[in-house]
Amino acid sequence: MSYLCESISKASILAVLSASLVFASNPALAFKGGGPYGSEVTRGQDLTGKDFSGQTLIKQDFKTSILRQANFKGAKLLGASFFDADLTGADLSDADLRGADFSLANVTKANLSNANLEGALATGNTSFKGSIITGADFTDVPLRGDQREYLCKVADGMNPITGNETRETLLCK
Ligand SMILES: *[C@@H]1O[C@H](CO)[C@@H](O)[C@H](O)[C@H]1NC(C)=O
Ligand SMILES: *[C@@H]1O[C@H](CO)[C@@H](O)[C@H](O)[C@H]1NC(C)=O
Ligand SMILES: *[C@@H]1O[C@H](CO)[C@@H](O)[C@H](O)[C@H]1NC(C)=O
Ligand SMILES: *[C@@H]1O[C@H](CO)[C@@H](O)[C@H](O)[C@H]1NC(C)=O
Repeated sequence: MSYLCESISKASILAVLSASLVFASNPALAFKGGGPYGSEVTRGQDLTGKDFSGQTLIKQDFKTSILRQANFKGAKLLGASFFDADLTGADLSDADLRGADFSLANVTKANLSNANLEGALATGNTSFKGSIITGADFTDVPLRGDQREYLCKVADGMNPITGNETRETLLCK
């Protein structure tokens, strides 16, 4: 009886240990990426320079991923999450980013030209510094005063899909 108990507890300790070892050696197994990008995990990954241009990635989960210089040109990223992701230098031009989550993300030196960010989230110190935003649509994106201020300094153009002037969507004075 006590031998049975002991072997059961040993077995469960082993199971817990091996599970955590698997997770430790392959962090991708610790969480599955949501969204339609096949079965590939895009969350918590280093996807530097990867080409996602023109792809349909609605609600894709890119949380905490490194997406430096990644190419999302013309991609459909409606409702995708870039929470705490590094998008430094990424090409987000012509992308459909309506309702996407950029909270805590680094979107510096990115190309957002003609992107549609309607209703996107940019809370928790999201930085868009040094990004190209010609023709981008920021309708209903809640921005801090300082974010709005530096975006208004470089805002110009009109979004070809919505017909909105970038400056108007940013409520620039
Ligand atoms: C964003 O990334 C750039 C390049 O690595 C870095 O210089 C900058 O400090 C980062 N900005 C924020 C707000 O984290
Ligand atoms: C930004 O994207 C637009 C549209 O794809 C392109 O015409 C432009 O050359 C890009 N700018 C830079 C600096 O890469
Ligand atoms: C936001 O980031 C800027 C630098 O990009 C920094 O100076 C500022 O303190 C940050 N604010 C908060 C609330 O973290
Ligand atoms: C941008 O365009 C959409 C659709 O055309 C419209 O619903 C929205 O109110 C516009 N935003 C601004 C700030 O005018």
